[in-house]
Amino acid sequence: MTSSPDHWWRDAVIYQVYVRSFADSDGDGVGDLPGITSRLPYLRDLGVDALWVTPFYTSPQKDHGYDVADYQDVDPLFGSLADADALLARAHELGLRVIVDLVPNHTSDEHVWFRAALASAPGSPERARYLFREGRGKDGSEPPNNWESVFGGAAWTRVPDGEWYLHLFDSTQPDLDWRNPEVGDMFEGVLRFWLARGADGFRVDVAHGLFKEESLRDQVITASGKASSGHVNPDHSMVKRELSDEPMWDQPEVHDVYRRWHKVLDEVGADRMAVAEAWTQTPESMAAFVRPDELDQAFNFSWLLTGWSADGFREVITGTLAAVGPVGASPTWVLSNHDVVRHATRYGGGPQGLARARAATLTMLALPGSSYLYQGEELGLEQADVAHELRQDPAWLRRREGIDDPGRDGCRVPIPWSGTQPPFGFGPGKGQPWIPQPADWAALTVEAQTGVECSTLEFYRAALAARRTFAGTAGDEVEIIGEDHDVLTFRRGPVTVVVNCGTAPVQLPAGEVFAASGELPGGVLPPDTAIWLR
Ligand code: GLC
Repeated sequence: MTSSPDHWWRDAVIYQVYVRSFADSDGDGVGDLPGITSRLPYLRDLGVDALWVTPFYTSPQKDHGYDVADYQDVDPLFGSLADADALLARAHELGLRVIVDLVPNHTSDEHVWFRAALASAPGSPERARYLFREGRGKDGSEPPNNWESVFGGAAWTRVPDGEWYLHLFDSTQPDLDWRNPEVGDMFEGVLRFWLARGADGFRVDVAHGLFKEESLRDQVITASGKASSGHVNPDHSMVKRELSDEPMWDQPEVHDVYRRWHKVLDEVGADRMAVAEAWTQTPESMAAFVRPDELDQAFNFSWLLTGWSADGFREVITGTLAAVGPVGASPTWVLSNHDVVRHATRYGGGPQGLARARAATLTMLALPGSSYLYQGEELGLEQADVAHELRQDPAWLRRREGIDDPGRDGCRVPIPWSGTQPPFGFGPGKGQPWIPQPADWAALTVEAQTGVECSTLEFYRAALAARRTFAGTAGDEVEIIGEDHDVLTFRRGPVTVVVNCGTAPVQLPAGEVFAASGELPGGVLPPDTAIWLR
């Protein structure tokens, strides 16, 4: 099913909704499902095809929903199952698809299975659903191996009877043992549950993590003394990872899980999809997740890990197409999400950062495949500076020592919709929402930008509308033109894209400009600007 050109996701623009921070219907300062439903017309008018909604399941919210206590219910903070049904129904009415987030690598420590595991003895079937092991050293007081949590510190926590359990993330997120057949059966049930409710697809959290090397051997630490996390390091997410020994990531057995899921999705209908969040070491290992009998897409993080550079962009585009082409999958592109510093800030912040962010977005939107947008980028939001005492990101909290790291709270600040002071129409409440909004966001609200020529919001609307004129028919071929270090030029079907990453203006090539990321004074392409020509 993966390679049919008819599949809706092949050229879809998918908008990521971070549930806590999109829209708050009840005024408690936290976003919720009815809030999302009420704002669906905004997404339709923006011109996206689908939304991916981050986890809204029952959860103690230690990692804001990526710690699931019940996969088949909605956390009261976000609403009810009826609210989820209403969201799905309304989205479908408006012609929008909905991708839900599936978290199969770990549960919350409040999941019934983990509670039962703690209440049971070492060696019991209850413990065998997780990775409990004896410790090393005298009295087993050392962790079973040297693995580190992605969020910092040891990846093991000891329970009162002396055993340790593995958690590649927070200690409240125990890893499941996918070698235990009960685990696979449980998740098949979860897939079927949400498919039956109308979900159009799944975003698979930590898709490369489910299996660990069976021996749970030590990781070989590289000469630089740094273990690779095998995952985004939210603090240094723009830094390329070194290739290293990763017994906890990307094990061959994981692909059997996705072959099974492929069958389940196919059984329900050829229009259901799954996209992997897989931080693999190479484009080729990423492509393995989207072989024709596995998942449909995998996030391609290479752009998000690349700075502002024509050569870098060129390399990302050619590398990605070369990797996914042979397996017949559609490429994906993403510049921002809830785990990384927003791209306007990564590109330097201020007017220049925003100009570059818009140019990168326009460049991405011309490429074959799907683009994933992150809520707020269409408003030109930057990473907010959240005071240390107000931070909630467990990754930052576990790593407090690295105090200058930005953490993930600053890209998760609630969306400013309208008005001149917090919560800027985010909800009916008064004052600041769960993470404070910067006071200067008054100029960035949806209301303030609507109808304003050249605003970032109108730029996104225009770009998405222009994309619709060719995305479905321009084919998958991209012809890179030239090797200029400052200017990237490529052609896709009838469209030529030029992005100026240099410091001097360049002549516009021949053709009609039908989209631009910024102004084109004097008929030249200024630095930090991209255009589409036909
Ligand atoms: C994924 C999510 C991230 C979460 C982690 C653990 O990387 O995107 O937000 O913290 O998985 O579930």
